[in-house]
Amino acid sequence: MTTQTQTETCEAQTLQKRRVFSGIQPSGEVQLGNYLGAIKGWVERQEEKVNFFCLVDLHAITVYQQPDELLHQTRSLAAMLFAAGLHPDKSTVFVQSHVAAHAESCWVLNCVTPMGWLERMTQFKDKSARQESVSAGLFDYPVLMAGDILLYDSDEVPVGEDQRQHVELARDIAIRFNRIYGDAFVVPEPMIPDIGARVMGMNDPTVKMSKSYAHIRGHAVRMLDEPKEIERTVKRAVTDSGSEIAFSDNPEKAGVNNLLGIYKVITDKSQPEVIADFSDARGYGELKSRVAEVVIEALTPIQKRYYEYMDDPAELDRMLARGAEQATAVATPKMDEIKRLVGFTLPQRS
Ligand code: TYM
Repeated sequence: MTTQTQTETCEAQTLQKRRVFSGIQPSGEVQLGNYLGAIKGWVERQEEKVNFFCLVDLHAITVYQQPDELLHQTRSLAAMLFAAGLHPDKSTVFVQSHVAAHAESCWVLNCVTPMGWLERMTQFKDKSARQESVSAGLFDYPVLMAGDILLYDSDEVPVGEDQRQHVELARDIAIRFNRIYGDAFVVPEPMIPDIGARVMGMNDPTVKMSKSYAHIRGHAVRMLDEPKEIERTVKRAVTDSGSEIAFSDNPEKAGVNNLLGIYKVITDKSQPEVIADFSDARGYGELKSRVAEVVIEALTPIQKRYYEYMDDPAELDRMLARGAEQATAVATPKMDEIKRLVGFTLPQRS
């Protein structure tokens, strides 16, 4: 094969690769639900796709964040994503506020999004019920998220179950914009794992494990918890008074189901393999010990790499700058296309 044909084949493969976009907020501590519901899948599939992963600091400030804390959490989250296995040669990892088109696209999309669509968002209803004062940004949050996704012509959006409604709204906004102004946007699809899409709280398996509750003792396994802490949290996990170790959608068995789901996603085993692993287990105590064991085994190397990244903030900043440059190279021309369709004049660029 000549060099030119090789290059052409390579370009054709890149063109065929599906585009993936996803985001994560640098607020609160990253917990096992974020890892199993989202990050682990991003890492495992990054070879097959063209990937954009965004640290969404604009979303984070829809609820007040201490500025120093936000600064730290953004670097810390970047270190965690790289430590978990995102590789800058395979994925564009960047900070949302570094790419101006995100805020800009949000404004234009605001102007085609009916208020009624936003009023239906269940996450807004939940979050606003917990705030004394609700910002306009919190209400508008899903439109910013639509801009994130649509700027990159994303085909797939891998997220946990809690983000499904937002991705569906992004689809509706894309379709509406395309109808009003002409085809600008790819209509994206949510990609939600079968198991792991909703990791539940250890202290209450009826509530989703969440960064916002990660400070409550016993609620979450946090990615940076030490082995002893992980063991304590898992061993104290709420289960039921029975003894059957089985996958189940019976609400009473939600605790056991959650532990088995965690075990399954971490070990990459099938449901029958998981059940076989526990066929000789004597009660929930043993189930919990083994779950704690596999969680610790998975998180220990990630934690080690995390601290190495955190020891070199200049390198982290360089990696994020590279991500921002790559993201800008895609998002800016897309934003220009949107502006042209809407009828804006574009400034001359030198
Ligand atoms: P965030 O930061 O709350 O969560 C990041 C990812 O983790 C998933 N997740 C879970 N999955 C399973 N079980 C859980 N308990 C659990 N908790 C969180 C979330 O579903 C998510 O995939 N709005 C988004 C960030 C965002 C975004 C985007 C995502 C902004 N723009 C564009 C996709 C595309 C959020 O707050 O995620």
